[in-house]
Amino acid sequence: MKDIEIEANKARFKSLCEEHIHREGIEKILDYLERTDFFIAPSSTNFHLNEPGGLCLHSILVFETACKIYEQIAQPAIQLGISPFTEEVAMESIAISALFHDICKVKLYHPTQRWKKDEQNRWVSYPGYEVKDEFPFGHGEKSCLMLSWYMRLKPEEMLAIRWHMGMFDMSENGTAQRYAYFSALDKHPLVSIIQSADFLASKLLEKTTTY
Ligand SMILES: [Fe+2]
Ligand SMILES: [Fe+2]
Repeated sequence: MKDIEIEANKARFKSLCEEHIHREGIEKILDYLERTDFFIAPSSTNFHLNEPGGLCLHSILVFETACKIYEQIAQPAIQLGISPFTEEVAMESIAISALFHDICKVKLYHPTQRWKKDEQNRWVSYPGYEVKDEFPFGHGEKSCLMLSWYMRLKPEEMLAIRWHMGMFDMSENGTAQRYAYFSALDKHPLVSIIQSADFLASKLLEKTTTY
């Protein structure tokens, strides 16, 4: 991603926060992000948007996808009375959960030289990232915790962020965790919305760069 695109995404991210989030603490979160690599970090090392600026763009795309899912699927069903849920979802909650669901990736991916074989079977180096987690507290769990240092989250926002990886985070987890995950889905529509938005954005809207 070019520097100019990274800057444009940063401005868009901040303007989405300004437009949709009015809760106490948002300024502190944005100040904190300014002091980290959030706006230049990749979204992953080898998968979706594994390039500078990927994390910020991914967060924006998850928000935009979550809005579409809510406005085109969940909200009409709630209004028509055909959804198991009866209460509408606050736009502020969608914005907080989507824009910050991956805040745990701050300071996680560190630039490094990686190695691969070229067509002639010779080793060549290329720029990549390595994972160094200073505080390995889990994925969604860590995002919830970090946000809570600055802002009071609603229960549905915590559940949506905690479980945004859905089943992909729990291949080796046991019955209790599966039960908690399915219970969380039944508690509030925001959990399904954020999980689906994360999946769809990363699989349908975000490329992987081959170095
Ligand atoms: Fe994530
Ligand atoms: Fe994500």
